[in-house]
Amino acid sequence: MSAVAAPLVAVLHGVNLDQLGHRDATVYGALTLPELEARIEQRAGELGMRASCFHTNHEGEFVERLHALRGTADGLVINPGAWTHYAWAIRDALEIAGVPAVEVHLSDVQQRERWRRLSVIDELCFATVSGRGPEGYDDALSLLRERIDAGTTG
Ligand code: DQA
Repeated sequence: MSAVAAPLVAVLHGVNLDQLGHRDATVYGALTLPELEARIEQRAGELGMRASCFHTNHEGEFVERLHALRGTADGLVINPGAWTHYAWAIRDALEIAGVPAVEVHLSDVQQRERWRRLSVIDELCFATVSGRGPEGYDDALSLLRERIDAGTTG
């Protein structure tokens, strides 16, 4: 009997999220991005999944990473940072990726400035988790686990 590979979840962080630890901790918390990614990888492992984390400050690289997910990832956790609110090319690339996705924001974007209320990707994500800090990623991974299990059991 051959072992079935654990589902692969891509975790994409966009612009300025590499600056966690230097940004307002009352809004974004105190974890750095490497600390947050380590936490995500551990939680994914506990749920029987593999997490592949990626960050860039370059929109074109983010778009190309989304393209590469097509047919290679079982799920996606996506936090594009400020691109969330205006980067329509990222919305189109997410559509091309065609992977079940959960949108995550550390802060509660609905309770902040008006311009943060628009998400160009929300219609392509089956869930959004906002304002839960690092625990929001736990929620997203659990939602993806449920979704993947539902897909494999029919
Ligand atoms: C963010 C919210 C965005 O509005 C902001 O531009 C970010 C981070 C969050 O995780 O709370 O850079 O996506």
